Amino acid sequence: MATILIRGGTVVSATGSTAADVLVDGESIAAVLAPGSTLLGHDLAAGVDRVIEATGKYVVPGGVDAHTHMELPFGGTFASDTFETGTTAAAWGGTTTIVDFAVQRTGERIQDGLEAWHEKARGNCAIDYGFHQIVGGVDEDALKAMEELVAEGVTSFKLFMAYPGVFYSDDGQILRAMQKAAELGAMIMMHAENGIAIDVLVQQALSRGETDPINHGLTRPWETEEEATHRAIMLARLTGAPLYIVHMSAKQAVETLARHRQQGYNVFGETCPQYLYLSLEEQLGAPGFEGAKWVCSTPLRARAEQHQDELWTYLRTGDLSVVSTDHCPFCFKEQKELGLGNFSMIPNGIGSVEHRMDLLYQGVVDRRITLERWVELTSTTPARMFGLYGRKGVIAPGADADIVVYDPNGHTSIGIDVEAGKTHHMNMDHSAWEGFEIDGHVDTVLSRGAVVIDDGTFHGRAGHGRFLQRGLSQYLQ
Ligand code: URP
Ligand code: ZN
Ligand code: ZN
Repeated sequence: MATILIRGGTVVSATGSTAADVLVDGESIAAVLAPGSTLLGHDLAAGVDRVIEATGKYVVPGGVDAHTHMELPFGGTFASDTFETGTTAAAWGGTTTIVDFAVQRTGERIQDGLEAWHEKARGNCAIDYGFHQIVGGVDEDALKAMEELVAEGVTSFKLFMAYPGVFYSDDGQILRAMQKAAELGAMIMMHAENGIAIDVLVQQALSRGETDPINHGLTRPWETEEEATHRAIMLARLTGAPLYIVHMSAKQAVETLARHRQQGYNVFGETCPQYLYLSLEEQLGAPGFEGAKWVCSTPLRARAEQHQDELWTYLRTGDLSVVSTDHCPFCFKEQKELGLGNFSMIPNGIGSVEHRMDLLYQGVVDRRITLERWVELTSTTPARMFGLYGRKGVIAPGADADIVVYDPNGHTSIGIDVEAGKTHHMNMDHSAWEGFEIDGHVDTVLSRGAVVIDDGTFHGRAGHGRFLQRGLSQYLQ
């Protein structure tokens, strides 16, 4: 494979930024050098296969999106991105690793669910990928299977306190899975919403004839997220399992998390761009059925209650550790439309895998987070959290050459361009981010030393991406 010199840029890590050249040899980073370094008096640029000019640009580790759902079966349909379309879109946006969720359906063996996900992904990914395992039914077989999966590099397990009858686990099942996770050093990921209470509120709303998309949010009030978050933390405390709460949107839930973190408990929170930028009033409450585009769980929260600002604060203080997308795209036509006349039938999910790095970079532009915190939240911490650090999440000798050249003076328009047509690459007929204008641009993306995005063109291929056997989290106590 080729040697590449990325020259003249500012290399940004979670701990600092420095002017440096980066030498790539094959799939790995060979050296990070003082700008203009020579080798035994020879110009490095003359001896490599390719030079990428990065003057005036940031050179950052490729994004690690620790929460995606390619082809997820949900609500009688499937998330519309395949592993090929979804990972290609991710590459366009500077994400070079995804960790997707393999699904154990009720009554199915976990090992069979995982194998089904391997089959979907194998040979189809443009970037590297790993799996978490959704445990759809905690029983003796499932607990035994957790041991096997950890040995195979699937070291985190998602449980649901929501969606009764689908993915839901009761408290006893959660407790048993947490006990096993504590024994194995595996991470429990929790969808923390009180699904039993929510289902009652949903039925009551429907019986009053309240069927519009905004009712999705109104029937999942913050109390249902905070209560489940608190319960999950208590069960984690009881068992000693490390706990990572996914897609947090309610400020009260994060406040509870922060309180327990301050007491020293090993609990972590993730949020997603939609909860930082979008709201119940503006998006979910859009006229007619339009709000269906933004139906996701946990739901978008009221801007009047300032959840969005508070989440930014928690990102800055460190109580929220990771920003992932929860990428779960559905087309408006025929998929979101399954819920016409009944909001509870709208498939839950938003597509963002392509936009996460850009959207979070706006936090740097707006001075809500530092440049280094941007890298930490989108790459370094997810890599550490999910046993990938060293290979991913860092620009250092020996690491995989997953690198993004990011132009802070560039510009990115998201959505549908009147002349050019669709300007994103996700397999969706709309964008949840329509009209967002980004100060910044993903110029060049390397995935394990291969240039996959450059000059506004995709140069990658399905099948380049490899399955990542992950280690245990670096955040174990
Ligand atoms: O709305 C969402 N979040 N859809 C994907 C499934 C999940 O709960 O993560
Ligand atoms: Zn979830
Ligand atoms: Zn999810």
